[in-house]
Amino acid sequence: MAYIFFYSTAFSLISYSLALFDPLTIGLGAAAVLGAWNSDFLKDQTYCRYKECCNERSIPANVNALKTKLVDLYGQHIVKHQLIPALASHLEKRRDSRKSLVISFHGTPGTGKNMVADMIANSIYAEGLRSRFVHKFMGRAEYPSEEHSASYGYKIHDRVKKALEECPRSLFIFDEVDKMPKGAFEALTSIVDYRSFANGVDFSQAIFIFLSNTAGVEISTHLGNLLLKGILRENTKLGDFEKILEKAAYNLDGGLSKSSLIEAHVIDHFIPFLPLEKSHIYQCLNAEFARYDMEPDQKVLDEIVGNVVTYDPIHGVFAKSGCKKLDKKVAVVAYQRGR
Ligand SMILES: Nc1ncnc2c1ncn2[C@@H]1O[C@H](COP(=O)(O)OP(=O)(O)OP(=O)(O)O)[C@@H](O)[C@H]1O
Ligand SMILES: [Mg+2]
Repeated sequence: MAYIFFYSTAFSLISYSLALFDPLTIGLGAAAVLGAWNSDFLKDQTYCRYKECCNERSIPANVNALKTKLVDLYGQHIVKHQLIPALASHLEKRRDSRKSLVISFHGTPGTGKNMVADMIANSIYAEGLRSRFVHKFMGRAEYPSEEHSASYGYKIHDRVKKALEECPRSLFIFDEVDKMPKGAFEALTSIVDYRSFANGVDFSQAIFIFLSNTAGVEISTHLGNLLLKGILRENTKLGDFEKILEKAAYNLDGGLSKSSLIEAHVIDHFIPFLPLEKSHIYQCLNAEFARYDMEPDQKVLDEIVGNVVTYDPIHGVFAKSGCKKLDKKVAVVAYQRGR
């Protein structure tokens, strides 16, 4: 409605003023209006001031905001180190970009994969996660059956293509990729591979993020072994894990299993989310209590950690479900204390 209103008002004002001029001025004026119209200038200055559009105003792509948000992510130095340059280079050089950016997050539960994907959406789009250019696909709920894998593949392909026709700067988050059937991404490979334009659709500016637990155990085992060798957690590097992730994603069950996305080397970054240790769980707990403006004593924190956290069977130092579930425990304490 607002859109129609703005355009009709703009047009009636223009026609009214045109009536006051001679034919030459009218011609020049009409050409200018037509040019402005074609370059979306009018739309940017009217409709898009109030509604979300596929433009700079609605998609500020603020990498510095992401840097600030990532301060709240604990125990994930590799994520912080890799993500910012990966996103910044894609977003800043987007006009020269030949391929969409494809990132795969791997790690055990509760290590921050969704948290970071949400932070990315909230930093790129003014409307954040609510933006109509952010598309979330839920593995287990939306794509449950193995036998329909090919039809899921075409549905995903069509949804992505349609979204990119509307806005090339779209973000696609595929959650629980390990719970999706093998083959679900086959149709997608043709979009994300090096082929930035096809049938008038620009595929080069999009961002795809895959989230999975695949290789989570392998990451924990490898990190544990590095720690035993005396290497500090903070000194481990992407290179220590990258090959493990790619191999596990390809060989284990799930949406990326034997997938052409991996065969065609379309995934630009495999990013490990390290398993969290006790100290990180305390950090998460303190952050959660801070949301209620609470600073509980050590006894309360120890009790929650003692009751909720269980550790991996091999090294015994990594929290099996990371910082997951802590919010509910903190909410109970806050409620009991009248917060
Ligand atoms: N590394 C972290 N630093 C700070 N908070 C964290 C971290 N990891 C998890 N959390 C907290 O735990 C909640 C759950 O984490 P999140 O949903 O991101 O886990 P996930 O890695 O996606 O797990 P899953 O594999 O089970 O889906 C987050 O909303 C956040 O509050
Ligand atoms: Mg998750």
